[in-house]
Amino acid sequence: MSQDLFPVPPEWRANARRNAESRAAEHARSLAEPDAYWLEQAQRLDWITPPTRADESSFAEGDFGVRWFSDGVLNVSVNCIDRHLAERGDTVAILWESDNPAEAPRRYTYRQLHAEVCRFANVLKSAGAKKGDRITVYMPMVPEAAFALLACARIGAIHSVVFGGFSPEALAGRITDCDSTIVITADEGRRGGKTIALKANVDKALDLSACVQKVIVVQATGGAIAMRDGRDIWYHEAAADAASDCPAEPMQAEDPLFILYTSGSTGKPKGVLHTTGGYLLWAALTHELCFDYRPGDIYWCAADIGWVTGHSYIVYGPLANGATTLMYEGLPNWPTPGRIWQIVDRHAVHTLFTAPTVLRALMKEGDGFVTATSRASLRLLGTVGEPINPEAWRWYHTVVGEGRCPIIDTWWQTETGGAMIAPMPGATDLKPGSATLPMPGVDPQIVDADGKVLEGAAEGNLVVTRAWPGLMRTVWGDHDRFFQTYFTTYPGKYTTGDGARRDADGYYWITGRVDDVINVSGHRMGTAEVESALVLHPKVAEAAVVGFPHDIKGQGIYAYVTLNADEDPSDTLRQDLVKWVRTEIGPIATPDAIQFAPGLPKTRSGKIMRRILRKIAEGEVSAQALGDTSTLADPAVVENLVRNRVV
Ligand code: WT7
Repeated sequence: MSQDLFPVPPEWRANARRNAESRAAEHARSLAEPDAYWLEQAQRLDWITPPTRADESSFAEGDFGVRWFSDGVLNVSVNCIDRHLAERGDTVAILWESDNPAEAPRRYTYRQLHAEVCRFANVLKSAGAKKGDRITVYMPMVPEAAFALLACARIGAIHSVVFGGFSPEALAGRITDCDSTIVITADEGRRGGKTIALKANVDKALDLSACVQKVIVVQATGGAIAMRDGRDIWYHEAAADAASDCPAEPMQAEDPLFILYTSGSTGKPKGVLHTTGGYLLWAALTHELCFDYRPGDIYWCAADIGWVTGHSYIVYGPLANGATTLMYEGLPNWPTPGRIWQIVDRHAVHTLFTAPTVLRALMKEGDGFVTATSRASLRLLGTVGEPINPEAWRWYHTVVGEGRCPIIDTWWQTETGGAMIAPMPGATDLKPGSATLPMPGVDPQIVDADGKVLEGAAEGNLVVTRAWPGLMRTVWGDHDRFFQTYFTTYPGKYTTGDGARRDADGYYWITGRVDDVINVSGHRMGTAEVESALVLHPKVAEAAVVGFPHDIKGQGIYAYVTLNADEDPSDTLRQDLVKWVRTEIGPIATPDAIQFAPGLPKTRSGKIMRRILRKIAEGEVSAQALGDTSTLADPAVVENLVRNRVV
């Protein structure tokens, strides 16, 4: 297996902040003396009142809660902006690249960012926003999206970003769940040369949600939109009268910073809540550990602000570290499959952080689009969102990075706030497909189905035994759901929902979700959500949704649909159902396959046997693969399903 080990390159070994020995020592100390370690780490932030307490969390029933640095007081926007002004006020903080390659990039220094964020904060205040209010952000990838988040943080309002690809229905659900009083949006978004009617979607969503009083509209494309008197405010008009200075609200470390909705295996999406001190520390620390950022590096996380990756690694982590963060409006492969590499060259990008699904899609286009560009500036490559197949890893390493750039495969979740298991460029020898080793403070375990802890080389369910600063604090409005979802399967431990293998070197290999969550192109989709959307259709009696392997997306969405007795299956109806789901949830939930099923495999007590449905969708249709079907109420159902597979 030695050819499968990629040692730390000598330049990184010599210059990075951590090497193998210091990484191991730091990890050991973080677990042995957590309070000392974390209070020391806390000094990387600027506090109004420095904390004297670190971890006060408990995963035990009765005493359950997650709390860090509870007597500390700080403001996130001050940490991301103001404290850099003296030393690097003229350094570019946000470097923005348009969807349209012919359009000039925009640059904001830390000083300009300060003025923009203050102005935005003042606009929010005059719209009535105050500390603790929830503000929904439904924005394209323009600099104003980052200003909006930082402006909320400045005044202590809680932002809830909803990805611009979500439908009005999905947006309305998220607005209502956290009772947002303000929505920040844009006239339209732009991606791949197409426009997305964001403001029109907000208008539709607000027909369904009554809590919103003001809508702040950023002019991004200049497209024609309707403005409602008394409710809608043009940002550029309000900003023209707003002061470019705004005092920052002092926040307790445990005051909420943001809510971000994510899908689970059951029910509607959960509002994952992150707070101020612990989250920011975790985002800043892990950004430094994974990418060893140095002044002058151009750092590009090619995610969308609508996901946690955008929160932690486009906005909060890099800005807390005084970095230049590149923000890109468009698609990696538009107008040409070489676009992503052209941007790397245009801005002399040092670190590129993207998702395996993007790499697989670009790989398919051939190496020519890559080799036509220089990429000489690249030193570090990152990946996130789903397991990376070794083939894509090698392509990234060899073709994109020409063998000189370590691949930082970061395993984490919306719930974890930042990277949990990941290499450090100067410290960690790499194995393609492994996220490698835990970050400081992270104490993972592999347990079997009964919760028995497996030692050494083992495969099973991945859990984490103690709290770290970036762990979510609650599910918005449903603290019991937080406890029930994550801490009861293996009492006293945080359940990740992922399977993992640990090899003899202690390296972790994430094998994928072990629950009813599908990972589509690095985005999490709950099977239950897609099922609920399908059964809302008037012709559908029942639906069951599972994931199946997909060349580009990693996993695709496979839906089994039982129609009402008087309905006939047809291709038209199939297309209708696909469109229906896109309208209900958004394009990311588009089913890749719909199979009409006269019946679903159920136990005698009426429980759908998903194991069997998953196997059939995966193409595993031998009797041996399908296992024991004798407990089914009607075993003949399975034969029919196998005969009528659609992919
Ligand atoms: C799920 C979390 C992490 C931010 C983006 C996705 C999968 C994530 C990796 C990785 C293998 C990964 C897991 C996890 N996942 N990164 N490097 N290797 N799997 O956040 O939407 O909360 O999804 O994504 O299954 O549980 P998310």
